[in-house]
Amino acid sequence: MIIEPNSNTMGARVLELDLSISLKDSEINQLMHALGTHGVLEFPEQHLSTSQLKAFSERFGELYISPGGRAQADGHPEVMILSNMTKDGQAVGLKDAGQSWHTDMSYAKMIAFANVLYGTTIPHRGGMPLGATQFRNMHAAYEDLPSELKQTLANKRITHDFNKFWEMMRARPGSTRPALSERERQARPPAVHPAVLTHPITGKKVLYANPGYAMHISDMSENESQKTLDFLFAHQLQDKFLYTYAWKKNSLLMWDNIGTTHNAVADYEPHEHRYIERCQVMATRLYGEQGTAHPIMFTSGISA
Ligand code: SIN
Repeated sequence: MIIEPNSNTMGARVLELDLSISLKDSEINQLMHALGTHGVLEFPEQHLSTSQLKAFSERFGELYISPGGRAQADGHPEVMILSNMTKDGQAVGLKDAGQSWHTDMSYAKMIAFANVLYGTTIPHRGGMPLGATQFRNMHAAYEDLPSELKQTLANKRITHDFNKFWEMMRARPGSTRPALSERERQARPPAVHPAVLTHPITGKKVLYANPGYAMHISDMSENESQKTLDFLFAHQLQDKFLYTYAWKKNSLLMWDNIGTTHNAVADYEPHEHRYIERCQVMATRLYGEQGTAHPIMFTSGISA
């Protein structure tokens, strides 16, 4: 394979690798290393069935199955459909998934390691692709924090709640999301993680405080916690940490949820169709059953 890093904030293209066939362990390790280092990997021109997407994704860790059972691919509950398309008047997938800055599954005890998305229908207008996925680099955002704040955050933990993002999306005009039922809330109770994680692949520190789910910083008053979170959100949203991926049909896009945050850009209309299949890889391979406090450092034997 050839890994070509982008020239800006993050991201790389992986060429000359066919993901429809089973990769060697050494290739998967090389990709794990590249994912930690570059944050986002694009694999252009792939031709994958739903089961091939799932088979590739599960090489990186256990796949998440959403307890809500919404928008799952037929026969593959681990694969979710992100789409604004309908069939026989029914939505075929989630039409507004991820449309604000967040990190997938930071609200869960076992956080997410990677997202794997395969796009087969990409909306276009005037020849330009719409529905980009944007990223922000949390290695760089941490590095750039004032040193006093780095010290303050060193021993802090943050509570993350699934309901925060859900309610933000519900408040948007035209949202059809119902409020979460008590059972749905219980299925995803809030989780607490260090404000700063040591990335298990790079060994460097990352800011783990995303606007979508982060609710409260430990050992701070509500007011101080909110002020600090507001600062961290504004800090990480600076353009110097931004990378925008413009989708191409048949590209597979994979990103590291520990070292990045992301946002799905909702700049297309209902008749401008988008169809993407997604697997979410949990961080079990990197954290075992211990949660985020004790990463198992990933060593690939590959130099940077
Ligand atoms: C997501 O948050 O996983 C969805 C990203 C996208 O649809 O671009």
